[in-house]
Amino acid sequence: MQIEQDEVELLSGVRAGETLGSPIAMLIRNRDWKTWSEIMDPASRPEDAAEGRKRRLTRVRPGHADLGGILKYERADARDILERASARETAARVAAGAVARQLLTQFGVSIGSHVVHLGGVDARPPETLPDDLNAAADVSPLRTLDRDAEARMITRIDELKRAGNTAGGIAEVVVRNLPVGLGSHVSWDRKLDGRLARAIVSIHAVKAMEIGNGWEAARKSGAEVHDEIEMAPGTPRTGNVRRRSNRAGGLEGGITTGEPLVIRAAMKPISTLMTPLRTVDVATGEAAEAAAERSDVTAVPAMAVIAEAMTAIVLADAFLEKFGGDSLTEMRHNFDGYVGRVGSRISGRPPAP
Ligand SMILES: Cc1cc2nc3c(=O)[nH]c(=O)nc-3n(C[C@H](O)[C@H](O)[C@H](O)COP(=O)(O)O)c2cc1C
Repeated sequence: MQIEQDEVELLSGVRAGETLGSPIAMLIRNRDWKTWSEIMDPASRPEDAAEGRKRRLTRVRPGHADLGGILKYERADARDILERASARETAARVAAGAVARQLLTQFGVSIGSHVVHLGGVDARPPETLPDDLNAAADVSPLRTLDRDAEARMITRIDELKRAGNTAGGIAEVVVRNLPVGLGSHVSWDRKLDGRLARAIVSIHAVKAMEIGNGWEAARKSGAEVHDEIEMAPGTPRTGNVRRRSNRAGGLEGGITTGEPLVIRAAMKPISTLMTPLRTVDVATGEAAEAAAERSDVTAVPAMAVIAEAMTAIVLADAFLEKFGGDSLTEMRHNFDGYVGRVGSRISGRPPAP
């Protein structure tokens, strides 16, 4: 419902625009709280938790965390589960991602996203994505670059809304200007592809992610998939070489290639349906219709922004790991030293006899 304003209050960790080393605490006020203050009152008595408890949710929703949550945590009211399982917590991820992005911006790295599929409608983005991807995506209410597809997506959303149904979709995140060599091939937990997959699939309702042409690569031959390599003098960040295509999406062997990092995240349809699915009322054990809480038809454009934030957090971590240092100056020095070395490894000239 977009009740929250885009406003963050910095509580600690920043002075005059610079970090101090103490945790950066940011507050985003939930303006919907007053509607829920009685229902969620921390001082209400445990006996209120019995029959008379307000807005009790026992007709657990298929696709949500309700059922697993109440069974696992021994709760009678799924509201105790859904308040924590809600994607509301991703506001915190986006705020932290904005800090990570600040660090990456210092090294010329840019991150953007756009929606490539929604509710059965494919978008056809331009061959070459705009330089400022987010500025172009933000023009669209659905954050898609294809105007025709956008109109069809809106029609589909309206149809689904009328039917009390919901939609999922796919968002693409693109990161440009990364150096070659973030992440590592040496062990599973250091591979950047695995670290990104964990971060992206941890977003609520995201059920799959692909890197580069992911699923499609599985159906094609090696010659159709792998990106040929050629010399590219004057590109020290990528080791003075480049790929003639970027089907790998900027990652090989768990290591960045220096080509744009391209990730796609697939989100299932929202699980709260206004025309409810069949379920069980956990208070009685009887068949029932699932609870129909206030809910959106789709949240794919918002998920794109969360996926950007999660990508920024993982990449900032990989940057710190590789270039470290106790100040930005020191980190930049390490970065420049590395780019200088990696840029002179393959000279493009035959080796001296
Ligand atoms: C930005 C965003 C908004 C969401 N909004 C809703 C919503 O309004 N109603 C709903 O039922 N689920 C919503 N979800 C999805 C649920 O949070 C998610 O399906 C649920 O926590 C169960 O987790 P799982 O789908 O990852 O298994 C949203 C997800 C995201 C990323």
